[in-house]
Amino acid sequence: MNGTLANRWDRHYSTASPLDGRPAQVLTDNLHLLPAGGLGLDLAAGLGANALVLARQGIASEAWDVSGVATRIVNAYAGDNGLPVTARRRDVIASPPTPGGFDVIVVNAFLHRELCPAIADALRPGGLLFYQTFCRTRVTPGGPSNPDYLLADGELLRLFAALIPVVYREEGRIGDPFRGFRDRAMLVAQRPNTRDTA
Ligand SMILES: C[S@@+](CC[C@H](N)C(=O)[O-])C[C@H]1O[C@@H](n2cnc3c(N)ncnc32)[C@H](O)[C@@H]1O
Repeated sequence: MNGTLANRWDRHYSTASPLDGRPAQVLTDNLHLLPAGGLGLDLAAGLGANALVLARQGIASEAWDVSGVATRIVNAYAGDNGLPVTARRRDVIASPPTPGGFDVIVVNAFLHRELCPAIADALRPGGLLFYQTFCRTRVTPGGPSNPDYLLADGELLRLFAALIPVVYREEGRIGDPFRGFRDRAMLVAQRPNTRDTA
């Protein structure tokens, strides 16, 4: 476990309440694409808002985050509300997900490019990825300033080229910058079914 990283995020969540978490638009806009059941993963989950949405849709979910403070908040809230969410303290860079374990994976506001192949592999055949994070091309100064954590134009599609794109949205600075889905890119993509590729 990366102690410095964990401590930094533990401090970030030290005054958080479970309801401070907000599910990602890539998930809330596309709930109709979710399977009726299965196993989900909210990766770098923070307060687990996406895992909680999945659980309410009938998808039992794990919520992995390096912060033990965040995972304790998520487990307490899920337990109190009878939701099938298990949060685990896990450094996803040191311990990436293993292949083929999940029907749905959600990643919001987290980017570690070297992890993307493992995320795609962690989907079961037919499984869905919901990914949303910040872009270098943006209309407001929100989000991280370090370009390592910002997507280049069209990069999310390239990072998950092994998957079949289902939804992609990235608006850059086109048109009226005060409207639309700005500063971030969203991707829903499906791992090919083995029988489709045979
Ligand atoms: C900007 S927050 C986003 C949290 C959440 N996905 C959301 O949408 O609110 C980034 C999260 O990544 C987690 N994180 C950063 N590095 C990590 C790592 N190596 N392994 C697991 N979680 C990590 C942090 O603890 C933090 O909760």
